[in-house]
Amino acid sequence: MPTRPGRPPTGWRWPAIATIELVSETYDAVLGLRAIRHFEDRPIEPEHLAAVLEAARWTGSAKNAQRWSFIVVDDPDQKARLCEAGDFMIPVVNAPTAICLVEEPGGYEFDSGRVAQNIMLAADALGLATCPVTLHRDDRAAAVLELPEGRRCRYAVAIGYPDPDAEPKRLGGRMPLSELVHRNRYGDPI
Ligand SMILES: Cc1cc2nc3c(=O)[nH]c(=O)nc-3n(C[C@H](O)[C@H](O)[C@H](O)COP(=O)(O)O)c2cc1C
Repeated sequence: MPTRPGRPPTGWRWPAIATIELVSETYDAVLGLRAIRHFEDRPIEPEHLAAVLEAARWTGSAKNAQRWSFIVVDDPDQKARLCEAGDFMIPVVNAPTAICLVEEPGGYEFDSGRVAQNIMLAADALGLATCPVTLHRDDRAAAVLELPEGRRCRYAVAIGYPDPDAEPKRLGGRMPLSELVHRNRYGDPI
């Protein structure tokens, strides 16, 4: 069983669903997924990286246009240059690899978000840990990554094997459904 820092113990249920019988590794993975920022000092096995990229490739996109590409950054110097493009890049500093999500012309940020989540869930299933990062200065990222005209890279996912002592910053910090969900019109309670 892969190490999964910060994962609630098996059989634990969020209070909201404690009353229903649910046996699904997928559901547990969705609810248990956390951003991890500390990694072992070793590269990603090529077959693990390939499997994660395959999951990225199979993400659904608007009109199935697949207007994305992925740049795997594992060269330490290139990784350091990439870190100049974001304000909170500790995950990339600590990770052996960053997968940069490139929006091809006509691409949607929504699709990039779906790719990122697929990468994170697939990585988790393989015993890898991840953290999304924002490249606040995407013009700098474009220069570092040598993107052709019309491409943009605003997000990347830091990825590696989790440091066994790594913990997410805060476990289970989410707003209650009562503050998030409305019925039929905004403001009416669910
Ligand atoms: C769009 C997006 C951008 C993010 N950018 C960064 C970032 O630049 N640096 C960072 O350390 N974490 C970043 N995160 C991770 C968030 O801080 C993390 O998802 C949030 O704190 C929830 O953490 P948890 O899932 O471990 O509870 C980003 C997350 C998202 C969804």
